[in-house]
Amino acid sequence: MHNYQSKYATFSTTSRFLGSRLSTRLLPLTGIFLLIATVAYLHHLSFFTPLDSTEITNASNPPPPHQTPVLIAQAREKWNTKLKRQSRTVEQAAREYRRRYGIDPPHGFDVWFEYAESQDVVLVDEYDEMMAAVLPFLEMGSTEAKRRAGLLRKERQRANRILVGGKREDNEDYIRPAPGEEEDRLRTDKLVEMLKPVMGLLERLNWPEWSVMVSEIPEPRVLNSFGDVLEGETIWELSMPGDRRLVESIKKTCGPDSRFAKKVDNYTFEYGLEELYKGWAEWDEYKREAQGKEAWPDDAPLVDVERDMDICASPELITSHGLFRTNWNTTKLLVPLLSYGRPSAYGDIPIPSSFQWDYLENYLYDPSADRTWEEKEDVIYWHGEPSGGGKGDEFFGSMHRHRLVALSNPPPSPWNHPSNLYAYTNITFSDLSPAHCVLFSCNHLTDFLPFTPRTPFSDSWRNKIVLDLDGWGPSGRWRGLISSNSLPVRSTIYHEWFTDRMVPWWHYVPLSVGVTRDGLGGVVKAFLGSDEGRYWGSVIAEEGKAWAEGGMRRVDMTVYVFRLVLELNRVFNGGQWRYEIPE
Ligand SMILES: *[C@@H]1O[C@H](CO)[C@@H](O)[C@H](O)[C@H]1NC(C)=O
Ligand SMILES: *[C@@H]1O[C@H](CO)[C@@H](O)[C@H](O)[C@H]1NC(C)=O
Ligand SMILES: *[C@@H]1O[C@H](CO)[C@@H](O)[C@H](O)[C@H]1NC(C)=O
Ligand SMILES: *[C@@H]1O[C@H](CO)[C@@H](O)[C@H](O)[C@H]1NC(C)=O
Repeated sequence: MHNYQSKYATFSTTSRFLGSRLSTRLLPLTGIFLLIATVAYLHHLSFFTPLDSTEITNASNPPPPHQTPVLIAQAREKWNTKLKRQSRTVEQAAREYRRRYGIDPPHGFDVWFEYAESQDVVLVDEYDEMMAAVLPFLEMGSTEAKRRAGLLRKERQRANRILVGGKREDNEDYIRPAPGEEEDRLRTDKLVEMLKPVMGLLERLNWPEWSVMVSEIPEPRVLNSFGDVLEGETIWELSMPGDRRLVESIKKTCGPDSRFAKKVDNYTFEYGLEELYKGWAEWDEYKREAQGKEAWPDDAPLVDVERDMDICASPELITSHGLFRTNWNTTKLLVPLLSYGRPSAYGDIPIPSSFQWDYLENYLYDPSADRTWEEKEDVIYWHGEPSGGGKGDEFFGSMHRHRLVALSNPPPSPWNHPSNLYAYTNITFSDLSPAHCVLFSCNHLTDFLPFTPRTPFSDSWRNKIVLDLDGWGPSGRWRGLISSNSLPVRSTIYHEWFTDRMVPWWHYVPLSVGVTRDGLGGVVKAFLGSDEGRYWGSVIAEEGKAWAEGGMRRVDMTVYVFRLVLELNRVFNGGQWRYEIPE
């Protein structure tokens, strides 16, 4: 634990770090700002009890003015606490595991820990994202987990199986795609590739054979809408384009007492861009009357990330995210399936994506194409395909990508609301592929929204702020974006393998999935509206980059999937496959 650790030794004394930067860089800039920042900062140092997220969003308990530096200071504290409490020895790590999850770690934990340590992995204890998905299977026991895996195997839809352990032919790897699985195998093959460096270590663990399915589509699919199926019945609930069947399945999964089940019937996703524009026109009218000019909030909007991603608590999400209109079938019961990400109501087990690993060179970070913060344009940037919605319907007003492109560009006539926001945005759709024309009514879409020719992904880094948006599934670009000198802004409902390892406002800026024009304007104003704002933007951009270089390397993905394999061995081979903590 050397490079990353020593790098963060500088960051962990951030009182000095921030202090010195504040005095050398900001003192000449603005006295008033410095005063506010210093007051907030000292306040923070001496008697600031960190606000928790519910307090942050509590309107009767508003955060101080100029909240950005305060949020950043709190987030930095949270990160430093996380770093400091990481285990240093396998005994510590095993006890921390037991403290968090109430059981012993899985068999091979010591081998895993030694490997993680040899690779300078710092966050050895942060596996809550993985465990949230794995614990339900550990609780049901290996017989039931195997039964469910068998049901999925019999009715696999766009998923392949990998085999682990057991007796093998001479030329077969310890972990290998099951013979005869002929689907497109990109995701399955990449997962096996991630495990290649530790095949030899796994070999020594000598487990009886087990297998697990890997999803070959971007969308998550595991729900628990019925809890089980009757003998001979299908495990899939069929969805049709744009109907509300998926919403009904999520309702059942969340349970009748959830806010989702109680309120979602009041929300519709059947509205077009026209309605979005009409709504803005009324809103602008209202604000012109109230304030005489368009006003954005003074700071980036507060986003309670956990709440924003909590589907069972947030029926409003169906009005602003395309997930709810997908026509992929979902399961009626929890089955073990590895996918790239899971919204909170889903039971998919997250694995790193092939895009984060190495698939599509275009999505990887290329330092030679990057610029320094100062050289970057004062622009918020996103270019991409019009994916991520219902297939075959035209209700673009509730698809997340379509909404974002709509609100960051001048609307077509007859709607007319000029805004200086557009001077700071470079957010358009790139080419419309024939595949999308089958899914959407393409001509109609190009009437409303700007399309520009596809440009290289590396163009993103010409801009100070880069947006990351979900597509049909989790975005493939996050690693490329957060690795750069740009400020990454993340808008997602997906829990990925690394979600609990980052701290919002220290490594990135969260943007609500239900973003409004005011919300986007707030981000622009907070980080491009003044020298102070740009300074704070550069701080988060640097921290995000350091995080990616220290915690989202390819070897970090290998270490994650290595540990996942230990957990899955216990899921399928039984609770006796545990690591006994030496007393
Ligand atoms: C909001 O804050 C007030 C005052 O601190 C408190 O009384 C109230 O319970 C809070 N409401 C919520 C929803 O947290
Ligand atoms: C649905 O919305 C209507 C109109 O705003 C409201 O009167 C009603 O109470 C809402 N119902 C639920 C279940 O929230
Ligand atoms: C959903 O399941 C049905 C029945 O197995 C199948 O025919 C259909 O192709 C599936 N839909 C998708 C989008 O895979
Ligand atoms: C937007 O970004 C593209 C690169 O992807 C660039 O070619 C174009 O000039 C930019 N547009 C503006 C208005 O800056």
